[in-house]
Amino acid sequence: ATELHVGVAGLGTVGASLVGLLDKKANALAARCGRPLRTVAVCARDRTRDRGLDLSGCEWFDDPCALAVSPSIDVFVELIGGDEGAAHDSVRAALEAGKHVVTANKALLARHGVELAAIAEKNGVSLNFEAAVAGGIPIVKTMREALAGNDVARVYGIMNGTCNYILTRMEQEGLGFAECLADAQRLGYAEADPTFDIEGFDTAHKLAILTSLAFGCEIDMDAIYVEGITSISKADIEAASELGYRIKLLGVALRTDSGIEQRVHPTMVPRASAIARIDGVLNAVAVDGDTVGEVVLVGPGAGGNATASAVIADLADVARGQMRPALGAPVGELTPYRAARMRRH
Ligand code: HSE
Repeated sequence: ATELHVGVAGLGTVGASLVGLLDKKANALAARCGRPLRTVAVCARDRTRDRGLDLSGCEWFDDPCALAVSPSIDVFVELIGGDEGAAHDSVRAALEAGKHVVTANKALLARHGVELAAIAEKNGVSLNFEAAVAGGIPIVKTMREALAGNDVARVYGIMNGTCNYILTRMEQEGLGFAECLADAQRLGYAEADPTFDIEGFDTAHKLAILTSLAFGCEIDMDAIYVEGITSISKADIEAASELGYRIKLLGVALRTDSGIEQRVHPTMVPRASAIARIDGVLNAVAVDGDTVGEVVLVGPGAGGNATASAVIADLADVARGQMRPALGAPVGELTPYRAARMRRH
């Protein structure tokens, strides 16, 4: 069968894991997808760094936009990060050139998702982002596919591995905030700019995407109340503990009488609750569906292999020719979006 030719822009923690896994699991993936997946081209700033990969068979690009439109690729994987500049330009260029796109970039989607979805729809290609929300947890597919028979009343959870790792270690080992953050960075959990993690914006980016999927509304970062964990001290954690609570950074979106409410903030959760028992880099996302009831997914929310696992799931969809609306609903049908916005304001 015809090979799917993959171009990967960005060889950081996730990109390097992805390229290694596509090679290591080539036979199994070909069997699961009905055709081989092969990395034919990569783009990264530093060509000389040892990433433990054999890239001799790959074409090298210095400019992600050149890779994005290269005739040698069928699908463009964007793992550069950032909501402007190279990531935005290259994803737009790939979609305009008729390439499918797979991205882990929640900041980009939270800011430009609607614009990019419209370009994807116009060009008949897919924009895939399983890896952008809660790392390795398959929450995007779950919401789009497995929960299609549900009207969602609420979606909430722990969506940032770095913050959960910091809060867990501060509580369990009595360590200081800065030390825990440094470890999260060393382990490859944190964003390139970790203020996005600890100030709650990474959770907000993910929540914005989930809200669009859950309620079929337009992504709207500005509608989210955001508060991070930088002001949480050991004393706060101890005080919560004495009262029988743990402190977790939660993202919450729910339907209310006055519209859709979205917020991110540290929350005291009862120690006996399921969400209180999510430790370390794990994330947990709960969805209340009217047909099924509450579904909770738990798994690694950050890290190279966990995030690459979600990227591969999207590549498998592309290989199998599966297409979906680019965001929560087809962009051409703006009526439900407008209705949702009007209720909110
Ligand atoms: N920095 C993010 C986190 C990575 O810690 O959850 C996954 O999006």
